[in-house]
Order: sequence, then structure tokens, then C-alpha cells
Amino acid sequence: MRRILVTGGAGYIGSHTILELLLAGHEVLAVDNLSNGHAEAIHSVKRLSNCQLKLEVGDVRDRQFLDRVFSDFAPDAVIHFAGLKAVEGRAEGCRGECRKSDGLL
Ligand SMILES: NC(=O)c1ccc[n+]([C@@H]2O[C@H](COP(=O)([O-])OP(=O)(O)OC[C@H]3O[C@@H](n4cnc5c(N)ncnc54)[C@H](O)[C@@H]3O)[C@@H](O)[C@H]2O)c1
Repeated sequence: MRRILVTGGAGYIGSHTILELLLAGHEVLAVDNLSNGHAEAIHSVKRLSNCQLKLEVGDVRDRQFLDRVFSDFAPDAVIHFAGLKAVEGRAEGCRGECRKSDGLL
């Protein structure tokens, strides 16, 4: 059993991944700013897995938020899905997004 932090956990791939991780017996914490994800996805995963699952609502570009989450949860591993699905016409914004996500590493 591992403690796994999943960013973008309320999104499409993140929520499906979390369900599989919980069913495999891991402890999971979801992080998402809900810009494109839904808290309902977390509720569905909890229902389907019958496991505990907490969602921390916040932005992976927010260093203070991440420091607190890492300190509180102390993950063994991180799976990073938080990101923008479409980059069309948003190249500059996406470069900034990537630089700010460096905090996660
Ligand atoms: N869906 C696909 O077929 C596919 C294929 C290849 C790659 N990807 C990539 O995988 C990642 C996840 O894809 P998805 O389909 O689950 O997208 P999604 O939009 O459903 O999930 C991404 C989640 O990340 C969250 N998020 C975005 N920016 C954030 C931030 N700064 N801080 C915290 N949370 C943030 C959103 O609210 C959302 O819930 C994306 O980067 C996407 O580009 C997706």
C-alpha cells in the first residue's frame, strides 16, 4: 500500500486512475483546482470504490498550497494529470503553466 497524490484528480484521466488505485488498495489524495474538473467525480469514485478519498482544492502552481499538501499527506508517489486539455491559441499561457508547475517537481 502506497500513499499516492494525484493532481488533476477530479478530471477525466485522474478520476479513473484514482478509482483503480483505490481498488488496488492504495491511499490516495486528489488535488485539483476544479477549473475543468468536478467534485462530483470524486464523490462517484468514493461511491464506486467504497473507499475514503479526500480532495484538496487548489492550484499546483501555488507553492504554499503544495508545500502544505505534501507536508500533511507525505506521499510516496505523485501522479501529475493537472493540466490543460487543449493548447490551441494558448501557447504562451501554456509555457507559463509549465514553468509554474515546476514547483510540483
Ligand atoms: N484525455 C486524453 O485523451 C488525453 C490524452 C493525452 C494527454 N492528456 C493530458 O492528460 C492530462 C489530463 O487529461 P484529462 O483528459 O483528464 O483532462 P481534464 O481536463 O479532464 O483533467 C485535468 C484536471 O486538471 C485540473 N487542473 C488543470 N489545471 C490545474 C492546476 N493548475 N492546478 C490544479 N488542477 C488543475 C482540472 O480542473 C481538471 O480536473 C492533461 O494534461 C491532458 O492534456 C489527455
